Amino acid sequence: MTKDFLSVLDFSSEELLKTLKLAKEIKAHPGDYSDALKGKTLALIFEKPSLRTRTSFDIGIQQFGGYSLYLSPAEISLGKRESVYDITKVLERMVQGIMIRTFGHNIAVEMAEHANIPIINGLTDYTHPCQAMADFLTIHEIKGELKGLNVAYIGDGNNVTHSLMFAAARFGVNMTVASPLGFEPNARAVLLAKQEAKKTGAKINIIEDPWEASKNTDVIFTDTWTSMGQEEEAAMRRKVFSKYQVNDAMMANADNDALFLHCLPAHRGEEVTDSVIDSKASVVFQEAENRLHAQKAIMYQLMK
Ligand code: CP
Ligand code: NVA
Repeated sequence: MTKDFLSVLDFSSEELLKTLKLAKEIKAHPGDYSDALKGKTLALIFEKPSLRTRTSFDIGIQQFGGYSLYLSPAEISLGKRESVYDITKVLERMVQGIMIRTFGHNIAVEMAEHANIPIINGLTDYTHPCQAMADFLTIHEIKGELKGLNVAYIGDGNNVTHSLMFAAARFGVNMTVASPLGFEPNARAVLLAKQEAKKTGAKINIIEDPWEASKNTDVIFTDTWTSMGQEEEAAMRRKVFSKYQVNDAMMANADNDALFLHCLPAHRGEEVTDSVIDSKASVVFQEAENRLHAQKAIMYQLMK
């Protein structure tokens, strides 16, 4: 059976730590890996827009001596022009891995069930596991040991939140999520994260008060209030989330050395102020660069 990366929970704590270690090694010595996936092709299926995911997978596979093949929504029209099953069975005859960014998580799961090549989740409505790996790589680079850290996520309980909770659980990191009522992370994801957290001693808490969550924390994460596909709710969401902005006062409420992370794209003036995203605490561009290194480590392990 081929191994996939659809969720952070597809990897054990040991495998995730090994992935971070490998990512650091590849980042430090990229030239040593220039033939790692020589001649192999990764198909990139995008049903939603992207800057970071597209560029980092595209460049990452090329830096390994491989090729990428970008497939736009208009080109393959997943599930409409052709079934997910047929697309998977055709692609596996020609490429050695598939990265997919889509809406329903079930589409990526279905692809993985049928494929005899690895499937990598480049974001679904449910999770964004590659982002969580880049985020914890960034925190690891700056803070050292992950176990025992306290992190806070302020805002919409979305795909990014779910993957961060899963990663926190696996790495032994305590995570508090503060979301308005009705916008909490998915109940099943919370249950799963709490269950997995027991194994590492991490605590996962879901609360409403962003000030309680950010108090003395080592890291503050946020993300857009309106995810791709929810554009029609943008005005309503701006009202609901208005007290969840990460601003100077909220950063001052955190630990003195607290970091600010955001997967980007950011909506400056909404979920984060310019003063925070452009401050010394902000590591958002290191975080964006680490998408490349983290995903190279993931591709290496799945496609080598
Ligand atoms: N963070 C992230 O996934 O960015 P893109 O949507 O630009 O790929
Ligand atoms: N939650 C955001 C993440 C973008 C990278 C979205 O799904 O649009």
